[in-house]
Amino acid sequence: MKHANHEKVLRALAAEYERHSPRSAAANREALRYLVDGGSHTLRLIRPFPPRIASASGAFVTDEDGHRILDFWQGHYANVLGHNPPELTGPLSKAFASGFGLQTGFTDRLQVEVAELACRLTGSERVRFTSSGSLATMYAVLLARGFTGRELVMKVGGGWHGAQPWGLVGVDLKEGDHASYQHTESKGLPGAVAEEVICARYNDTALLGRLFAEHGRRVACFILEPIIGSGGFLAGDPAYLAAARELTAKHGSLLIFDEVIAGFRFRAGAASALYGVRPDLATFAKAMGGGMPVAAVAGRADVMALAGRGGGVKFSGGTYSCHPASMLAAKTMMLHLAAHEAEIYPRINALGETARRTVEGALRAEGFSARCTGDPNTAIGGSSVGAVVFPFNGSAAISSPEQVRDPETCDVELADTVLQLALLLEDVHVVHGLGCLTTAHTSADVDRLGEACRAAARRIKAAR
Ligand SMILES: Cc1ncc(COP(=O)(O)O)c(C=O)c1O
Repeated sequence: MKHANHEKVLRALAAEYERHSPRSAAANREALRYLVDGGSHTLRLIRPFPPRIASASGAFVTDEDGHRILDFWQGHYANVLGHNPPELTGPLSKAFASGFGLQTGFTDRLQVEVAELACRLTGSERVRFTSSGSLATMYAVLLARGFTGRELVMKVGGGWHGAQPWGLVGVDLKEGDHASYQHTESKGLPGAVAEEVICARYNDTALLGRLFAEHGRRVACFILEPIIGSGGFLAGDPAYLAAARELTAKHGSLLIFDEVIAGFRFRAGAASALYGVRPDLATFAKAMGGGMPVAAVAGRADVMALAGRGGGVKFSGGTYSCHPASMLAAKTMMLHLAAHEAEIYPRINALGETARRTVEGALRAEGFSARCTGDPNTAIGGSSVGAVVFPFNGSAAISSPEQVRDPETCDVELADTVLQLALLLEDVHVVHGLGCLTTAHTSADVDRLGEACRAAARRIKAAR
């Protein structure tokens, strides 16, 4: 069965959800009057309407209808300690009360401490902070193009590096006879971008070799995630990442690891260390700041120097760069993760493993050919992330976003839309079928996730 039609099921689930969440429905009607589509981030705008959250603590968020929702989205994977962890809210509240935290426009000692920590924990020589992952990857690409004097940017089809010109190519698979990632994702982009970005295929070492043989002399950088996130939570094959390092070095291109999700999610530092691969530049955000807006570009001192006076790369602004409250959160978070690394990561990885197997087991028990991605490999050892795919061919190996996002290969709508809405009716929130585990989750929460998956699957079957 390919291109399954879920229209009838979605209509039935939506009607039930209207009854389940009348206050969120009303808030959405008001939101639509002022906010485009009712919000400011498409992934959050669950259809027919998202739950409007009133408060959050640990593994749970509470919506305006009073539902206590078990959350696996956890701030776009930023939360390692759950929502509003006292480890962060305590120092932040204390700082605000003492007159520190909202004074932007200056430098202070805290930035130096955070920079030292970030460099030490990520194995970088220099770092510069900014306020979002999108800006970090944009600056990293500018630095690479400035450093090499070249224009081509290689990325992975299906890789999401945020909304910046070179990142807005090859994010969604364009359907058709030869489904491809080689296209721009947005109107309004500079025309040159379509020609300046080449999409490689994740974990396809042979293709990478061919692309570098053909274009290597003109490639400024290859940007990729060591564990790809929105492309389906697939761990990079160690041989692929080693080849990426070797080929970029051989052709005089820079290797950029986008660790906006991976950094501090798999260890208290860069995930690249788990592979023994050192990129020229890396970007960090999310877990590093524990939910506060902080992002960083870090790496080789000679490349980073281009951001400095006279360096020529305009990575120099940002009203909220090094925002004091964000810096305090980053310092607190990084110190906490480093001090408790030996307890935190084994715990969330074990919960991740149980969650992936529980979700698969529950959905399969109800007759769905579900599989969870996010499994670790020999390099990363353990993983606290996951997504659900429904491959039409149950035994097919899933190793690249081409497979995860291709509606000919996997039932994408069932995973991303139908299952999400059905689980919301069980007061469980997932994105792409799952999300991530935090220290705030318990094994009882994972059991509840399993029960919710079974109930959601039954609900879907009943609505067909
Ligand atoms: C790997 C990766 N890079 C960059 C970004 C963009 O980060 P931000 O949303 O903070 O702009 C994201 C966001 O999800 C991401 O997952």
